Amino acid sequence: MLSKGYDVLLSSRNQAQLESLKKELEVKHPQQTVHVHAVNFSDATQTIYYLEQISKLSAKIDVVFNNVGLYLEDDLSEAKDVFDQVMQVNLKCHYLITKRLLPEFLKQNKGYFFTICSALSKQVRIQAASYSIAKHGLYALHKLLVQQTKDTKVKATAFLPGSMNTASWENIQAPRLEFIQPKDVILAIEACLSSSEYAQTDEIILNSKNSQY
Ligand SMILES: NC(=O)c1ccc[n+]([C@@H]2O[C@H](COP(=O)([O-])OP(=O)(O)OC[C@H]3O[C@@H](n4cnc5c(N)ncnc54)[C@H](OP(=O)(O)O)[C@@H]3O)[C@@H](O)[C@H]2O)c1
Repeated sequence: MLSKGYDVLLSSRNQAQLESLKKELEVKHPQQTVHVHAVNFSDATQTIYYLEQISKLSAKIDVVFNNVGLYLEDDLSEAKDVFDQVMQVNLKCHYLITKRLLPEFLKQNKGYFFTICSALSKQVRIQAASYSIAKHGLYALHKLLVQQTKDTKVKATAFLPGSMNTASWENIQAPRLEFIQPKDVILAIEACLSSSEYAQTDEIILNSKNSQY
């Protein structure tokens, strides 16, 4: 995004890592501004406070990546309960962010929502019950966005990836080079952002050629 001339606003939980990333990116892209906010999206109060803080920035938001997600395993027959935590990070924070930004996007008749769903937005995995439920919900949120932005210039695209070679696979034995690579997602995002005014890409399904993943 920085190399395309966008300023960026990055959010995750670790302030020190964010500050160091900001420095690194601003050296590489001296014309652009990198804003960082440490926020734990598993906490609705922090999410709402964060949304208040970003609304005070003078910068106008053009593109949103609803990306944060947490993969935890649980199944319906066991006592382990990760449902609230998984729903908060994978669904509720995206709901809050989207509700906060959509009116602004509609008012300016411009803006792009990318929502990172999952192959488990359309299928379920028994051993990832809460995650499957949350990702189905996130996909429903995206479909509502597509409906609600019809006949406007606001766009919304969902990504439904299978396994992607990201940090979440660190310490797991898996053929990560046979997964979808981050570059594949970047290329698809670039294509969406450069599509013509009336072109609406509803969803992008990305799977590995390795059918086990
Ligand atoms: N990787 C896959 O195989 C795969 C497959 C299908 C879908 N997806 C989806 O793709 C998206 C990105 O996944 P990923 O694999 O890139 O995940 P990841 O490597 O675990 O990265 C997640 C990012 O979110 C931040 N984060 C995690 N929990 C947070 C929280 N509670 N509050 C704020 N920030 C938080 C992390 O930074 P900090 O830890 O510093 O906070 C990190 O920057 C997710 O929605 C995931 O469900 C991934």
